[in-house]
Amino acid sequence: MENNIITLRQGKPLVIAIDGPSGSGKSSVSRKVAERLGLSYLDTGAMYRALTWHCLDAGTDLSDAVAVEAAARNLELEQNSRPGTEFVRVFGHDVTEEIRRPEISSAVSAVATTLGARAELVRRQRALIAAAHRRIVVEGRDITTVVAPDAEARLLLTASEEARMARRGLQLGGTQSAEQLAAQVLARDAKDSTVVEFQRAADGVATVDSSHLDFNQTVDAVLAAVLDAISPHPIHA
Ligand code: DC
Repeated sequence: MENNIITLRQGKPLVIAIDGPSGSGKSSVSRKVAERLGLSYLDTGAMYRALTWHCLDAGTDLSDAVAVEAAARNLELEQNSRPGTEFVRVFGHDVTEEIRRPEISSAVSAVATTLGARAELVRRQRALIAAAHRRIVVEGRDITTVVAPDAEARLLLTASEEARMARRGLQLGGTQSAEQLAAQVLARDAKDSTVVEFQRAADGVATVDSSHLDFNQTVDAVLAAVLDAISPHPIHA
């Protein structure tokens, strides 16, 4: 039952935009939702991470906005669009695992706050949505507001600070102290928040709070929010 594909809006666009902070469970939940609905999947955070990997690899000064923007424009990037077959390649080099490393996590905000680089990645994200015939789950920080404000379903996936830290700890294998983790994740969210608002839902964006939900419950809550967003609502007098 849980793995049956649910068909919604067959033959019509269904862009599901999901934003949220680190550790809200956004990536794994978005991937599963895409799988359940038979939709493509785009992890936009992976694009910022891939660009950061490339800049570090090429010795680009991350504080040089012009150089980072140029790197974004020239970046040869390939990534999966089917959930369950995750890969990210930069100039043909597989960086799927490397972009998850702590060195990238701590450098990525410098790239994500470079407005010229953002403009280039947003342009590519819109092209990828069009290439998927607008049947896609897209997750990030500015999807509901900037990349696809016209999406059929727009959601903000949140979780309490406590729940987010606990999840990050699990994801990193519990090798860092709780304090280090909290400091790293909160500093990153604070820096990212200076260029995009992802802590509060914009108008028309539904909030799903996963603080007290497990993975499957969160997937179900997101599916319910999608159904609600695409259902015609009666107008109340
Ligand atoms: O979701 P993530 O941790 O993989 O995101 C990596 C970084 O990219 C993080 O610093 C936020 C930033 N980001 C962004 O600014 N806009 C997006 N649409 C996606 C990610």
